[in-house]
Amino acid sequence: MRILVTGGAGFIGSHCTLDLLKGGHDVLSVDNHSNSSPESLRRVAKLAAREAEAVEGDIRDRAHLLSLFRRFTPDAVIHFAGLKAVGESVEKPLEYFDNNLVGTNMLLSVMRETACRNLVFSSSATVYGTPEKNPIPEDHPRGALNPYGRTKLVIEDMCRDLAGSEAGWHIALLRYFNPVGAHESGEIGEDPRGTPNNLMPYVMQTAVGRRPHVNVFGTDYATPDGTGVRDYIHVVDLAAAHVAALERLDSFEGAEAVNLGTGRGYSVLEVLAAASKAAGKDIPFKLRPRRAGDAAAAVADPSLAKTRLGWTAKRGLGDICADHWRWQERNPAGYGA
Ligand code: NAD
Ligand code: WQD
Repeated sequence: MRILVTGGAGFIGSHCTLDLLKGGHDVLSVDNHSNSSPESLRRVAKLAAREAEAVEGDIRDRAHLLSLFRRFTPDAVIHFAGLKAVGESVEKPLEYFDNNLVGTNMLLSVMRETACRNLVFSSSATVYGTPEKNPIPEDHPRGALNPYGRTKLVIEDMCRDLAGSEAGWHIALLRYFNPVGAHESGEIGEDPRGTPNNLMPYVMQTAVGRRPHVNVFGTDYATPDGTGVRDYIHVVDLAAAHVAALERLDSFEGAEAVNLGTGRGYSVLEVLAAASKAAGKDIPFKLRPRRAGDAAAAVADPSLAKTRLGWTAKRGLGDICADHWRWQERNPAGYGA
């Protein structure tokens, strides 16, 4: 297949592009590098022994996007491009609405104009708001806790409305839980700009000496050890789920949501212990009050992914930490090293 990937130079996009290339698909990535480096796809090319076409561009540039679609004639699109920092979205909601909502609207309108109606979209477990129960099935009520989450909710609805307006759309709304880990080669991985917001990169940057200690946000949750529980999903498993979704996209009538998680939750202290084991050293941490907006636990019900995509996660927390640590140790300053 010919796959146009938006945001292909990013964390998840680069791992997915590698899987697509290895599977024999042709890939064009359009990325404005607002949160990534072109180096990631250069490394992907080495690992795959073939290249994706990497174009620098912004999905909000409609004329450019249309020219890429006309030239590349994709069979399907995987849409990763977007801003994703929760805290930043609270400070700059309009930037998030512009980048994520206007950007997606441009993309959808170009897809419509060029009659490309196959789409895999990066949604998020954030659309469940504060979970009412765990594990969380896809029919759990949705809600937004911040502007970032609101963009995911709205984009899901935009896709549904578009698919409802004319026949022929096949859209997979993939709701990721907590993507972590790195490719087993240690060549590609997550390279957050500035101070990481998410636990795993913070833990690994602490292990490599870039941060003095990890702050454990909240020790009084109703969880076995009092710290927050999440469903951490290895990025290589996540990439495989995208390929599986593409292969089954014809069976998606309109827009359908599918959780991507393992079904197993781990606490912050369990993550710290597993990361310390992988890094072969104690990782310093301090117990802190809860972080605003955090749920006690969020764990996927992954059963629909199994039936709809024929996909289940294969890698556990030990693999996640070993692979993430390999990437961090070999690239202490990320792609800038
Ligand atoms: P990322 O920031 O590493 O990748 C996103 C890529 O999109 C970056 O390379 C960035 O430069 C590019 N981009 C952003 N705006 C663009 C624009 N207007 N035009 C062109 N390129 C643009 O993030 P990621 O972790 O790989 O996430 C990919 C997608 O998955 C995002 O939509 C994110 O919201 C979603 N998601 C991520 C997580 C997570 O925890 N990583 C969880 C759930 C959902
Ligand atoms: C995990 C756990 C924290 C950092 C976020 C977004 C979500 C999705 C994935 C995109 C929680 C605790 C964290 C730290 C800590 N992204 N923690 N110290 O909050 O589950 O999800 O990323 O869609 O939308 O909200 O992930 O990695 O930030 O936190 O103790 O320095 O680690 O309290 O329990 P989260 P996270």
